Amino acid sequence: MIKFTLNGKTVETDAPPTARLLDLIREEFGLIGTKEGCGEGECGACSIFVNNSLQNSCLIPIGAIAGAEIQTIEGLMETEQFKILDESYSECGGVQCGYCIPGMVMASAALLSENPNPTDAEIREGISGNLCRCTGYNMIVDAVELAAK
Ligand code: FES
Repeated sequence: MIKFTLNGKTVETDAPPTARLLDLIREEFGLIGTKEGCGEGECGACSIFVNNSLQNSCLIPIGAIAGAEIQTIEGLMETEQFKILDESYSECGGVQCGYCIPGMVMASAALLSENPNPTDAEIREGISGNLCRCTGYNMIVDAVELAAK
């Protein structure tokens, strides 16, 4: 039995320790905002926070998160920071197909928590682990810039 905190609630699972955290979040806990893109740590669609650090959940075995605090996009949605990002992404047209957006928003939140006034280059670096297939990067960068204001 592995116990951890998920979006502020203590939870436990009987899933095997080698199972992927991404699958556990989506299938056992029904938090489908976390997406699977590449499944190999390259696209950032599965981004979550583990103890406040941005991580790719497709690369994390459940055995590694015993006692950890996990936050998904659903948990972030309860925060003031999310509301600001939600508005700025809408205003700047940052969402196209939307598949990368939960991961992009997690990366944006991580960046702004560490660096509340990032430069254009720092924003591009901050979201560099997240791929957007619609190539909407400029609007996403604008959205993060607006959220920082
Ligand atoms: Fe995890 Fe692409 S699905 S990084």
